[in-house]
Amino acid sequence: MTDTQLNNATPKLSARGVDVFYGQKQAIKDVSIDIDMEHVTAFIGPSGCGKSTFLRTMNRMNDTVSSARVTGDIRLDGEDIYSPAMDVVQLRARVGMVFQKPNPFPKSIYENVAYGPRIHGLAASKGDMDGIVERSLTRAGLWNEVKDRLTDSGTALSGGQQQRLCIARAIAVDPEVILMDEPCSALDPIATAKIEELIHELRGRYAIAIVTHNMQQAARVSQRTAFFHLGTLVEYGRTSDIFTNPRQERTKDYITGRYG
Ligand SMILES: Nc1ncnc2c1ncn2[C@@H]1O[C@H](COP(=O)(O)OP(=O)(O)OP(=O)(O)O)[C@@H](O)[C@H]1O
Ligand SMILES: [Mg+2]
Repeated sequence: MTDTQLNNATPKLSARGVDVFYGQKQAIKDVSIDIDMEHVTAFIGPSGCGKSTFLRTMNRMNDTVSSARVTGDIRLDGEDIYSPAMDVVQLRARVGMVFQKPNPFPKSIYENVAYGPRIHGLAASKGDMDGIVERSLTRAGLWNEVKDRLTDSGTALSGGQQQRLCIARAIAVDPEVILMDEPCSALDPIATAKIEELIHELRGRYAIAIVTHNMQQAARVSQRTAFFHLGTLVEYGRTSDIFTNPRQERTKDYITGRYG
């Protein structure tokens, strides 16, 4: 058993020797890790250590940053996502992303969810689309709150509802992986608890990786934790081990609040 492959679980996403540069500056150094369906993986580490940068390599969001260059190997079900043959629009549907600040489109609640399935041709009829919208909102724990106001603007919802709408939007295109970059940092404790509960419910159906600065949250929602420091993956293991019995001094210093 290596650090990288912790479980017998088949990896959904598998990164090997990944480096990321912004111009001359290296932000990620030789990171290898597997993300699987069975476990939620938390990425933790001090500000600027590269958590968001690494997360974004997994659906090629760094492509949108002109100075960014990614090397190494990242595979989704064994398929090289940086291959020229990879359709990036398709990839981002398969590997969805939820951001720190909820970012619903300035469209109706219904349209926020229907937009992706329409682009990807997932619904043959209005009835089909209605079904996808209802299922996605239900799975995101939002249906009961919005079913009577589907034509209202997504931006009129509360912050926590907006974040669940963004999760519904990601789910609607039937992704395999959901990447979340500090999805609760703009939310109050009640909205946060709802998202955490949702993450529990989504586990197993999607491979989930979540960046968080909140150690209690990492301990609550994840079964695997990756600790990053200065662009390197210092330690990766079972969340319970990382928090109670870290092998690396740097991990221990971080989780005990000595720096960060
Ligand atoms: N678009 C960019 N252009 C240049 N440098 C960048 C860019 N985005 C991030 N960086 C640099 O890469 C490093 C890692 O940044 P990143 O945002 O991945 O860290 P992070 O761990 O997510 O931090 P935080 O916890 O504050 O969100 C930092 O030194 C940052 O300044
Ligand atoms: Mg970040």
